[in-house]
Amino acid sequence: MSAPLNSLCEMPYTARIGPDVWTAQCLLQRGEVVAIPTETVYGLAGNAYDTRAVTKIFSIKQRPYTDPLIVHIGCMAQLEDVAHALPAQAQVLAKEFWPGPLTLLLAKKPAIPDLVTAGSPCVAVRMPNHAVTLHLLRQLSFPLAAPSANPFGYISPTTPQHVANQLGTQVPYILSGGRCRVGVESTIVGFEHERPILYRLGGIRVEAIEALLGPVRVANSPAPTQPVVPGSLLQHYAPTQPLTLGDIPQLLRQNREQRVGILAWDHYDPGVDTAYQRILSPTASLEEAAQHLFAHLRTLDALPIDRILATHVPDVGLGRAINDRLRRAARA
Ligand code: TXA
Ligand code: MG
Repeated sequence: MSAPLNSLCEMPYTARIGPDVWTAQCLLQRGEVVAIPTETVYGLAGNAYDTRAVTKIFSIKQRPYTDPLIVHIGCMAQLEDVAHALPAQAQVLAKEFWPGPLTLLLAKKPAIPDLVTAGSPCVAVRMPNHAVTLHLLRQLSFPLAAPSANPFGYISPTTPQHVANQLGTQVPYILSGGRCRVGVESTIVGFEHERPILYRLGGIRVEAIEALLGPVRVANSPAPTQPVVPGSLLQHYAPTQPLTLGDIPQLLRQNREQRVGILAWDHYDPGVDTAYQRILSPTASLEEAAQHLFAHLRTLDALPIDRILATHVPDVGLGRAINDRLRRAARA
């Protein structure tokens, strides 16, 4: 093992950010946890077969062990090691959307430790569509368990700097791969008696799935206290500041006494300093809005304000995933 790599592993870490797949590969092979880019959000990755590496992920994120992790694969051959035969409709979805922002809940094989699935017989699997991470996954002899690389409950990271800001001293290496192209997490689809159920709205639009499979049931969202997908709790993806969701002019009238930051859809509110406003998409594009969502929330969260005011976006396509994240971020 080279001296530089050893020095990377010395605590406390110095938040090294770089594009070097080989460094990430060596660290992962020796059981370390590394932040990786994907097209949705950055992940906090470790060897999915190694319970010590997986334990580190839970501990760095301060994530409850009841909330299972997605397993990332680099090719279809790796799928056979982690999951049993796919339901017919899962095959259709994997063929169409992998690599891409789709996670499938499948019957797990014994190679995946119970720790990864929080004791569930189902494993969540996805093949991410990011050239750097696909290359990394294809160099490894194991799949990567990876939740989003943020402290549990906080906003997901869409740049390497977001990861460094919060977890920089806890991971030896942040593999950089630019700003995430999609910007919201993967869509999660499970199967009940071979029928698809959508458990998390995300980067693959419901309409695109329904175009292939016909009408698909969307599980209660936000979920009750014991959801099938444990991470779909009512409050999640939340900034530190309170966030109120609604009609901005009306919210401004109701919050006259407070210092506010605004997350707007496609234009500034004329009554508020633009330094305290972020626009999701000046051209009213839902794709652009999804790319900006988490970065804008982080920027607003760092301002000297009392409250973030945010507005819904059109509830179609990626807009459904954006509105879902905003609802979860909102609290009184
Ligand atoms: O886009 C994404 O999916 C990103 C990138 C890094 O791949 N990952 C991500 O992971 O969002 P995380 O851990 O933040 O969210 C995964 C969700 C959680 O709500 C978790 O409860 C659910 O997937 N999940 C994971 N494994 C599961 C399983 N075996 N059964 C049910 N739900 C599962
Ligand atoms: Mg997450």
